[in-house]
Amino acid sequence: MQTDLRGRDLITTQEWTREEIDTLLDVAWDLKRKRALREAHPLLRDKVLGMLFFFTSTRTRASFEAGMAQLGGHAMFIDSETTQISHGDTAKEIGEIIGRYTDGIAIRQCDWKFGNQYIREVATASRVPVLNMQCDVYHPFQILADLMTIQEKFGRDLRGKTINVSYAYASSYQKPLSVPQSLILLMARYGMNVRLTAPKEFGLMPEIVEQARENARRSGGTFEQLDDFDAGFKDADIVYPKSWGCWMTTEDKQESAVIGKQYTDWITDARRMKMAKDTAIYMHCLPADRNIEVTDEVIDGPQSVVYDEAENRLHVQKAAMALTMC
Ligand code: CP
Repeated sequence: MQTDLRGRDLITTQEWTREEIDTLLDVAWDLKRKRALREAHPLLRDKVLGMLFFFTSTRTRASFEAGMAQLGGHAMFIDSETTQISHGDTAKEIGEIIGRYTDGIAIRQCDWKFGNQYIREVATASRVPVLNMQCDVYHPFQILADLMTIQEKFGRDLRGKTINVSYAYASSYQKPLSVPQSLILLMARYGMNVRLTAPKEFGLMPEIVEQARENARRSGGTFEQLDDFDAGFKDADIVYPKSWGCWMTTEDKQESAVIGKQYTDWITDARRMKMAKDTAIYMHCLPADRNIEVTDEVIDGPQSVVYDEAENRLHVQKAAMALTMC
């Protein structure tokens, strides 16, 4: 167990060792148990988290705020649109100044080719740890919650389990690549058989795919890429079909909408779920485009673990804050 995590940023799980991630998960289980027993755990009394949002959120905002309150501290919501950030406060100024008011800074900045760079600029200027609440490249807390959920369902040793990380059609908007990218990176470190299924226009960043392949090689897992939606479900233990944008093909919203229209049949339904193992679980980070990405029957059905995933956001985030902001 690695215990010296005070002051550490968490921008991508790639920058934390496997042992450090396992420590975070151990603490998350302990805090989940404490909450179930109504046992107080004010590990961050009088501490403040500054939460800076450039993008909308339901789960991330609510779980970080609730988590800080349960740890005895306070979470301060800062909206980029209603502060002077919209008039030019720079990333360096935010890191310097908010870092002097708080004990940690959490940021959601998903703009393509900018978000991750922004978060890193804040982190460079900040004297307190910086936590990535989602950028254009990574969504580490979602994927840590997903890993916790998978281990709850299948046990801690995930070697040999097959996860299908798949594109699914959605009409709402061009979503970031951060969820599938973080998923293939982290699950490949746990010896799983990672399957990435997507149409040719919906590729992920090549350097991330290469890192996932290398993670699988090191962990004794496998990594494969498919372009057939049905084939992705075959004999999978875990299916995680969700929409993302075709950012590697075009940044134009109208063009991406036209491309996406070719794949309206990439919807998870009961027929597809039957192709996976009988014991398979259905995962989604939410929000989902119901009856477009996934049918109500599946997302509300017995194989769905979406609410456990959402709950586990709270526990992994509290663990990360308790370990880095203490
Ligand atoms: N899954 C997730 O990050 O949800 P929000 O966008 O609602 O925060």
